[in-house]
Amino acid sequence: MSLDKNTTDQLIDKYQKLGQNVNTHLDGLLHSKPIDYWDYIQTDALLNLQVQRTTLPDEMVFLMYHQVNELLFKMVLWEMDQVAKKEDMTAAFFETKIMRISRYFDVLTSSFTVMKDGMDVEQYNKFRNTLTPASGFQSAQYRKIEFASTELINLIDKRFRETIDRNTPFEHAFEHLYWQAAGKDYKTGKKSYTLTVFEEKYKDEFIRFAEFYNTHNLWTIFKKLPQEVREDEDLIKAMRHYDYTVNITWVMAHYNTANHYLNIGGKTAEATGGSEWVKYMHPKYQKRIFFPDLWSTQELEDWGTNI
Ligand code: HEM
Repeated sequence: MSLDKNTTDQLIDKYQKLGQNVNTHLDGLLHSKPIDYWDYIQTDALLNLQVQRTTLPDEMVFLMYHQVNELLFKMVLWEMDQVAKKEDMTAAFFETKIMRISRYFDVLTSSFTVMKDGMDVEQYNKFRNTLTPASGFQSAQYRKIEFASTELINLIDKRFRETIDRNTPFEHAFEHLYWQAAGKDYKTGKKSYTLTVFEEKYKDEFIRFAEFYNTHNLWTIFKKLPQEVREDEDLIKAMRHYDYTVNITWVMAHYNTANHYLNIGGKTAEATGGSEWVKYMHPKYQKRIFFPDLWSTQELEDWGTNI
């Protein structure tokens, strides 16, 4: 087999542009190690990340499923980042990305039974005591997915959404995000430990991220697409599907799981993150909707009630 002239020319050209000698790089190839599956996927590193806090076997199910979720969250954010940074946005590009993001959330939602039906209730209620005061509430990637999906106003606690000044500084808006309700006593303003440490670690990063995405989120970018694209039925269907999957189907799967483990014999146990979860987690209470104009007034009113 001989070297293809076109490839050789391209290689020479590539390294010339970098001010490098192509022969040195070709000599390097003589000694380079062939890649293996385990080196590429980094299976050794990946499979060393499952460290239990107890000896209960089902804790492993809980721990690994969370890790799988975080990987999928990363896949979602990977696509969102490309949408946000695309300079000459086209309908086809946007549609492809929405479909990918939507598919990842379908996986997250349909697999949630791994949590609800996949652990022994007794074991769960033992190992969870070792996890207090940590909570999935502290998943930074989940929060980023929300910031990257919609405008900040749609993530404001619905009790303040009508009255908050839309031009309020991010710092102020942040204090009124819907999820503050899980960790803040609104009468005294006191924040729980779970929320306090979460903010200590991520607040600055969240504010930077939210500032950028407030104008680069999926909803704002969709609204800038040409009218005929915005009226495309398939695209609208995909957008509504994503909104419904994240904000109703996933939330309900999660809520039903919490009920399964934490609501035994009519007695509600306190969640590890300490929220008033029965009220807080329900979609009809949160009314979190990423793409509000794609729903009728009735649908908005009924959000989370007919399920
Ligand atoms: C047995 C399984 C699970 C139970 C019982 C459960 C329970 C809860 C509860 C009660 C909350 C409210 C906050 C608190 O007080 O802690 C919460 C929040 C949260 N959990 Fe889970 N969870 C489970 C699995 C998961 C999984 C697999 C994920 C995926 C990463 C996850 C992600 C989240 C997120 C993102 C929040 C915040 C949601 C929001 O603010 O609306 N949870 N969870």
